[in-house]
Amino acid sequence: MTTNPVRITQEGARSAAADALIIGVTQGTDGPVPASGAEDVDAALGNTLAATLSALGATGRQDELTKISSGGATAAPLIVAVGLGKEDQGGERARLESLRRAAGSAVRAVNGGKTRSIALSLPAGDAAETEAVALGALLGRYSFTRYRTTDADGARTADSPSLTVLSGAAGADEAVRRARALADGMALVRDLVNTSPSQLYPETFAAEAARVADGAGLTIEVLDHQALADGGYGGLTGVGQGSVHPPRLVRLAYQHPDARKTVVFAGKGITFDSGGLSLKPPKGMEAMKSDMGGAAAVLGALQAIAALKPQVNVVGYLPMAENMPGGRAQRPSDVITIFGGKTVEVLNTDAEGRLVLADALARSAADTPDLIIDVATLTGAQLVALGPRIAGVMASTDELATAVADAARQAGEQAWPMPLPEELRKGLDSTVADIANVAGERWGGMLVAGLFLKEFVPERARWAHVDIAGPAFHEGEPYGYTPKGGTGAAVRMLVQVATDVADGRL
Ligand code: BES
Ligand code: MN
Ligand code: ZN
Repeated sequence: MTTNPVRITQEGARSAAADALIIGVTQGTDGPVPASGAEDVDAALGNTLAATLSALGATGRQDELTKISSGGATAAPLIVAVGLGKEDQGGERARLESLRRAAGSAVRAVNGGKTRSIALSLPAGDAAETEAVALGALLGRYSFTRYRTTDADGARTADSPSLTVLSGAAGADEAVRRARALADGMALVRDLVNTSPSQLYPETFAAEAARVADGAGLTIEVLDHQALADGGYGGLTGVGQGSVHPPRLVRLAYQHPDARKTVVFAGKGITFDSGGLSLKPPKGMEAMKSDMGGAAAVLGALQAIAALKPQVNVVGYLPMAENMPGGRAQRPSDVITIFGGKTVEVLNTDAEGRLVLADALARSAADTPDLIIDVATLTGAQLVALGPRIAGVMASTDELATAVADAARQAGEQAWPMPLPEELRKGLDSTVADIANVAGERWGGMLVAGLFLKEFVPERARWAHVDIAGPAFHEGEPYGYTPKGGTGAAVRMLVQVATDVADGRL
């Protein structure tokens, strides 16, 4: 999907030439209250807005949508009032997320059909609010139409409508530029996750990474199957050997001339996870095209970072393989050798993500990183522990887990720190190899996976592991700026981490 430009203007809402004009409404004690940005529309309607909204049953609840015909009072024929919830609820972060969600919900509601242009006059009093409105709108406009020949009404699928954000805030242009970089990175991730796994496999995924690298000015190195075998990347070759599509390891690099620090991002890139010979049941496989969501997030984040240019070096590793049960597939009880020499007894071929990540983490020692973050759709246990929307963050220290989870939340993503309890490590003891890839007991599965990865982290490195099994893929109805399918999870978090390291905050 290509994103049309989002325009920024200071003009009055009533004269905004658009098919639909989006305004905000908050939940007052005595009913709906038009939000800042709606004053001009209210005046154009003879100050009847609150009464009209009230009569239509609007309350101002978060994401509630009320459509009003402007009757010619504003240049836009359709006014869409979107709920922002109660005013002064929670702090700055909550307010910005409320704006993103409202903008996303409203744009989603009018997107498609005959709407060619959308203007948003939501509260955008400063740069942060302007960015939130623009980002929510851009993400809400996203749709994945590659495989559709017609839309729901049987019409040919159309291009996405133009977006105009009304804001007079200082720094509004820069805010919209940031929003675009993040939205483009997330749209890339959504597209890659939503792509049929028959078309996205390691070779094509690596080609896609090369295309992105070329456009963004990132350097790229791709290790093909032979190079992986020669280099001793036993995790990638082991997981990939049951598939007709051989594995790849992609290394991307963004460099800033004045950088003082290097961050490594590594993302799990299983283009389809059947479980291998430890085959998943049919239901468990349905969402497994999303098992490359971590690698896609690293790619999307690097694209955004290349556009935003923080003063830091960033290296991205995308270990890619397809986990299939073909005749040459690895067997439960096979012993493999990870890059760097440690051996692993593969007792369950469905615990494959940790094997390809182990190769990438061990390899990253060569970059002497100041901080390593891996992101992975790693365990069903993450969903059990935190539900489908909250990522689990584990790290070399509890302080770092808290700091990384906080960076994610600062960027508008849900994440929570989790421990790596040492007593669970002995469950991974193997009778024949250095370590087994699964524990006998299932308790704390997300943490056990983290403890496994920890063994492959370069000595003394600061490292955090982010399990996005749930957040990467949304199976329910769309909400806010989140569509069904690929979500773009972890992109904003990684960009935030890179900027925080650049600015000495992390
Ligand atoms: N890709 C899955 C994890 C997953 C499950 C992601 C559900 C998204 C939704 C991973 O490779 C996997 O199969 N993990 C196993 C590990 C187990 C064998 C220790 C799991 O969680 O069941
Ligand atoms: Mn698996
Ligand atoms: Zn997997």
